[in-house]
Amino acid sequence: MCGIVGYVGTTGGAAAVDVVLDGLSSLEYRGYDSAGLAVPTPSLAVHKAQGELAALEGIVPRGDLAGSLTGIGHTRWSTHGAPSDVNAHPHTDEAGRVAVVHNGIIENYQRLRDDLAEAGVVFRSETDTEVVPHLIRRYLDRGVSPEAAFRRAIDQLEGSYAIAAVFEGSETVYAARQDSPLVVGFGETGTYLASDVPAFIEHTDRVCYLENGDVVRLTADGAVVTDSAGNPVDRPTETVAWDPEDAEKSGYDHYMLKEIHEQPTALRQCLRGRIDDLEGTVTLEDINGLDHDGPVQFVACGTSYHAALFGAERLRRNGMAAQAFLASEYTTDRIPVDAETLVVGVTQSGETADTLRALREAARTGATTLAVTNTVGSSAARECDHALYIRAGPEIGVAATKTFASQQLTLALLAAKLVDSSNRTALEALRDIPGQVQTVLDTSDARAVAEEFVDADGFFFIGRGYHYPVALEGALKMKEITYRHAEGFAAGELKHGPLALVTEDTPVFAVVTGDGEGARKTIGNVAEVAAREAPIVAVTDGGSDVTRYTDYVLEIPTTDDFTGSVLAATQLQLVSYWLANRLGRSIDKPRNLAKCVTVE
Ligand code: F6R
Repeated sequence: MCGIVGYVGTTGGAAAVDVVLDGLSSLEYRGYDSAGLAVPTPSLAVHKAQGELAALEGIVPRGDLAGSLTGIGHTRWSTHGAPSDVNAHPHTDEAGRVAVVHNGIIENYQRLRDDLAEAGVVFRSETDTEVVPHLIRRYLDRGVSPEAAFRRAIDQLEGSYAIAAVFEGSETVYAARQDSPLVVGFGETGTYLASDVPAFIEHTDRVCYLENGDVVRLTADGAVVTDSAGNPVDRPTETVAWDPEDAEKSGYDHYMLKEIHEQPTALRQCLRGRIDDLEGTVTLEDINGLDHDGPVQFVACGTSYHAALFGAERLRRNGMAAQAFLASEYTTDRIPVDAETLVVGVTQSGETADTLRALREAARTGATTLAVTNTVGSSAARECDHALYIRAGPEIGVAATKTFASQQLTLALLAAKLVDSSNRTALEALRDIPGQVQTVLDTSDARAVAEEFVDADGFFFIGRGYHYPVALEGALKMKEITYRHAEGFAAGELKHGPLALVTEDTPVFAVVTGDGEGARKTIGNVAEVAAREAPIVAVTDGGSDVTRYTDYVLEIPTTDDFTGSVLAATQLQLVSYWLANRLGRSIDKPRNLAKCVTVE
């Protein structure tokens, strides 16, 4: 769950220190408890610092390093060893001949460490990573080439890794991938390596995604990819359709606010070319080959799990058997899955370890697997039988916002494709969503509502049907970025226990749309809350008289329940954002969290 950057520039190209630091700033969402970089020429220089990237930028002697055109860098999210200068990457061997950065977990590191320690190696850090430079050094001492030493060391590792290394005096970067993403970029004035494309998108959009088992040698002229046995392998070069500006803040104070406001665009991208108005049908070219009418199981984590709950609900309402599971709880030992089952991993990053494990387990039973993801070339996209892209564009803020909305919409499209029903009204409703989200953004009172609750002890969110996952998501966003206690409940569950927590100091947000049976029941639950004198915020389209019980209203356009849930989610994102902003929280990089969770 860390970010890796590598670079080898051509003569006259940019200084490695600048390219690496810029690249790391685009990858801080992957981890930000410490950072470091290494340049190998003329002699190996390593700088690292605990804290956000700014701490590293403060100590790096840019002038002294300006002549070096080769470098690697790392931004860390701790797994082994606390965040500290010494545990920060890169790690080196004792003689300072090789520097290594690593993302993932080396599962057999303790055994390797014990062996090395027995052979006299003195370890400086508590990390699993540090075994790698010491192993490499062992082979260098036996007279093998840097590339062979790198390969032999990698061969000994078990677990997941993306690893990059530089050797003193050499203008080459070596890297290897196993279960952690790595992508190579080919620019006019150099070759790039990163955990994710935004790290070098300002330099090039021509990329090549590495596969598990790949080892790559980067030089200024390009990259040679080989398999673990050293045989050349052909990895296609693709052009990514990302605009470098997409990965910047464009005048917003935070990426999260920018990304909330990008939702109409993201949703339009998601729909583009997928709905045939004349026929009233959905065409999903990404998954043309997928034809399925058996049971569907969704596996996902966090916000993506909330989207998966929508997906399952949407399919059930279309007559298909569907369930959503937390990926970390999914096991084929207890959950019936077979070749008739479609298992859908919902994962914006495509790299979440829990979700990948669940998908792999499902695949072993013969189930068909589908990744619903934002990340082309991600592990989920490559490993599943099919991949359906949500097309939200890069999301940098750790708290998922536009990817959530795009997941909701993509799963509604998936449901339409799977049930193969032409339903013009339902599809027209989906087509209207981007404009309605824009209306919410233009008219929202979320900031004023947030202002009312600066001193609140805790928050509750309730909803029914499609609005239940919105309640869960509203609470998750609140927790993540305000650090205030928040819980989401199915509205009907409140009276079965949580109501004991409701007081005049615990605001309750109730999502109610239309005037159907679900709305009427939720209003009954709102009345129960009102009787306990909790401040109540209705997120509603005005279809019912819920506001007679409530103190504040966040209005959304009148529409169907599904669309209402997308619009309500936007209102709740804004409430959390404005409260976190008022409280001065680290909104884009909340404490203890990272964007991409590549450990189970
Ligand atoms: C919360 C959030 C996380 C992710 C979860 C899964 O705002 O972003 O809960 O949804 O870590 O991540 P992906 O979707 O990348 O699998």
